[in-house]
Amino acid sequence: MNGKSPAPPSAIYPGSFDPLTLGHLDVIERAAAVFPRVLVAVVVNPQKREPLFTIEERKQMLVAATKHLGNVEVADFRGLLADFAKRSGAGVIVKGLRVVSDFENEMSTALMNRSLSGIDTMFVPSDPKYSFVSSSLVKEVFFLGGEIDQYVPEAVLHVLRAKRATMRPTETTEEKHRS
Ligand code: PNS
Repeated sequence: MNGKSPAPPSAIYPGSFDPLTLGHLDVIERAAAVFPRVLVAVVVNPQKREPLFTIEERKQMLVAATKHLGNVEVADFRGLLADFAKRSGAGVIVKGLRVVSDFENEMSTALMNRSLSGIDTMFVPSDPKYSFVSSSLVKEVFFLGGEIDQYVPEAVLHVLRAKRATMRPTETTEEKHRS
């Protein structure tokens, strides 16, 4: 022991970000205030339905929305998060918890990731004002004509509007964009 505290680990914050919401951004900002470096890791092939946004679009929205944070980087990954987290040198995985029911799935995922990689997960409780905000709800509300300005960063709003402008009317249904 040299009497010095160990340096805080860098964090990895994984997700689909299809698209980024203000709830995600709040977690990123809070993680960036605690950890020296936060790598936001966008999964290329989420085990969900086909994403609305390409991986490049999702990364560009994240880069634009986090440009005020000097210690945040954005990357994409395929395959196991545990492998990517190890390769990227992360010391901790950060996950947001919006509601108590999120915890059930996140608990087993956290334990599996620790078993696979030795990297622990730290949970950040969602700000209550975003506890009901999800990417899938934001898309549904937007494509059904609702206001979503208070749920997504400005950069996301622009990209969503541009995406809608390129779509045929039949594509902008709730069915198509639920994920
Ligand atoms: O934003 P999401 O969709 O809730 O993020 C889910 C994500 C990307 C964190 C999760 O799907 C993931 O970790 N995918 C990588 C595949 C993986 O590692 N699976 C095993 C989990 S123990």
